[in-house]
Amino acid sequence: MTDPQRYLVTSALPYANGLKHVGHLAGAYIPADIYVRYLRAQKRDVVFVCGSDEHGTAIPIQAMKEGTTPQAIIDKYHVAMKEDFNDLDISFDIYHRTSSPLHHETAQEFFTKLNDAGELETKETEQFYDEETKTFLADRYIKGTCPNCSSDRAFGDQCENCGTTLSPDELINPVSTLSGKKPVKRKTTHWYLPLGKHEKFLREWILQQHKDDWRGTVTGQCKGWIEGGLQSRAVTRDLDWGIKVPLKEAEGKVLYVWFDAPIGYISATKQWAIDNNKDWKPYWEDKDTKLVHFIGKDNIVFHCIIFPIMLKLHGNILPDNVPANEFLNLEGDKMSTSRNWKLEMRDYINDFVKKDNGGGQCVDMLRYYLTQIAPETKDSEFTWKGYQDAVNSELVSIFGNFVNRTWVLMHKLCGGKVPPLHMDILDDNDKTLIADIESTKAEVQSAIEYYHFKDALFQVIDLSRKGNQYMQKKEPWIVAKQTTDNSPQSIAAQKSIDNCLHICLQLCANLAVLINPFLPNTAKKMIYMMKVVDKMLDWENAGKLKLLSVGYSLREPQLLFRKIEDTEITEQIEKLKAGLVNKTTKMEETKSVASKSEIVYDDFAKLELKAGTVIACEKVAKADKLLKLEVDLGHEKRTIVSGIALHYNPEEMVGKQVIVVTNLAPRKMKGIESQGMILTAEDSNGKLQLLTPENPVTPGSNVS
Ligand code: MF3
Ligand code: ZN
Repeated sequence: MTDPQRYLVTSALPYANGLKHVGHLAGAYIPADIYVRYLRAQKRDVVFVCGSDEHGTAIPIQAMKEGTTPQAIIDKYHVAMKEDFNDLDISFDIYHRTSSPLHHETAQEFFTKLNDAGELETKETEQFYDEETKTFLADRYIKGTCPNCSSDRAFGDQCENCGTTLSPDELINPVSTLSGKKPVKRKTTHWYLPLGKHEKFLREWILQQHKDDWRGTVTGQCKGWIEGGLQSRAVTRDLDWGIKVPLKEAEGKVLYVWFDAPIGYISATKQWAIDNNKDWKPYWEDKDTKLVHFIGKDNIVFHCIIFPIMLKLHGNILPDNVPANEFLNLEGDKMSTSRNWKLEMRDYINDFVKKDNGGGQCVDMLRYYLTQIAPETKDSEFTWKGYQDAVNSELVSIFGNFVNRTWVLMHKLCGGKVPPLHMDILDDNDKTLIADIESTKAEVQSAIEYYHFKDALFQVIDLSRKGNQYMQKKEPWIVAKQTTDNSPQSIAAQKSIDNCLHICLQLCANLAVLINPFLPNTAKKMIYMMKVVDKMLDWENAGKLKLLSVGYSLREPQLLFRKIEDTEITEQIEKLKAGLVNKTTKMEETKSVASKSEIVYDDFAKLELKAGTVIACEKVAKADKLLKLEVDLGHEKRTIVSGIALHYNPEEMVGKQVIVVTNLAPRKMKGIESQGMILTAEDSNGKLQLLTPENPVTPGSNVS
């Protein structure tokens, strides 16, 4: 295989609808970053692009949940995600966003070119429509009862309770989440990409050409799609959030998010080229470019089947590889945003990285563990205990310990300078270690080229383990006891010490080069200790034995890593467990905490709150959201109109105890006088939950 002229490396564009967790980091960002840092150290021409995916229904839905606009959502999360990647040293050349005008133009041009060439088909279908809000309903906007588990938390695309993939037609009693009304079917026209037409190409390209170099998990999934029959895929949607379809007859329609998002890789490259005075075209049009997509397994079909067809039709190059990762579980369970079972990058940044005083050791410690457990061939698991073990018994005790010992002994026994190597007394131990230093480069290199990052990292750590074993055999601190005078024995002893530390120092220099793609902060500290320039980290220096010159004086050692204490991990585990169930994200919390100004007790005491029992309940005519309740408050009964109809049925309300604000001025709603207000709280799915006494109380009881 000849080396390509240039590389274009991408990481999946994360949805700008929330903060991302360490599963994402391990899946698509750290591996890409390792690969890119390795290529840069080889002085290759490489561009690493990413950005926020800001379209699709995920965005307006998050806006609904947070009670704000889609624009505010993408602005908030675009900035937050960019910052998190930056804090974890993911070294994108550009972190772009799909809401940019440049991207809109690029995606529209793409669509137009394919459509003009007759590569798209149109089809009229029936789709759910909300007559009240006059909108077509994306699958996510329809909810109902799950045909599989009977949960009422099922959406038109998936059941939140049992996880089954659904289509809106399968829901029992479907209602629109916008109006609460039963949706109707209405005719609509969409543009489709006929995947079936390209079956032969896909079979040849994936199942033959790449049958050996792509991961088995990836070709396996592709094979499943191809053999399952390739259906045409709609590339437009009836939605008001997204990139407008550039056709007069497509008023009110936008490009499907999975049509526009991958084109985001191209528009990001264009923006990078503008910013750096470069030409973007060769990166997407010249066959001598190697394109590599780093993604999670849920994105395989889009990157291996749909986007390549689009690229081919548009006249672009195809990906050379798509090293998709499987999933990362957390402490024995699937990571889940809705159940809040996750470790967000930001949590780790706040709890570890920010307490680091700038050295980046905690960044590297996370990068290490996530690479060591990377789900390259099967799902794997993050546990805090595993993290602690990886840090304490590998980074600290093996790698860190070897470097530190070398430095301390070199200062103590060799006057802080690189000692000479005496060839005349080289023994077998020396020779074996020298051979290991020379051969490790090729092993690490080939593992990285095949995207086996976990294995590559293991080789690096293993080399430091060999360094430790060597040191243990040579015992320079013991030999030093013989260097008391100018006797021939003393001189021989000093020569043996020189050789040991010379080789160990050259090994440390090698370790810095080899570890650099994985743990860049560690490499930086090591070159500081060696008092050499960044250039020493060039990959071509790996495997060499003369990286440090004899007689050169080196700095004092710095601690590369710190131990993780038991208390730190128990705290994290407790935090994780405490956060489980419907806890809102931190950003939302701060929002609600900060939104009202402080009051004094007297302000609160003005409220009269009582517990009551609902004795009757009915829907309010011509108002989807309102229920009319009769509440028994002991000495009186009151009529209360409450906006909970989308969340509770009238029947299920009867008999429930509620908390009522009883001294609120009466207010008319839809012609009914409401004589109070009942209290609710919103859960993370946007459902209102009634506040109710834990055990039954006498109607009319005071609440304080
Ligand atoms: N936003 C998608 C996700 O998080 C990934 C988009 S990748 C791209 O699953 F190729 F479309 F950009
Ligand atoms: Zn279900």
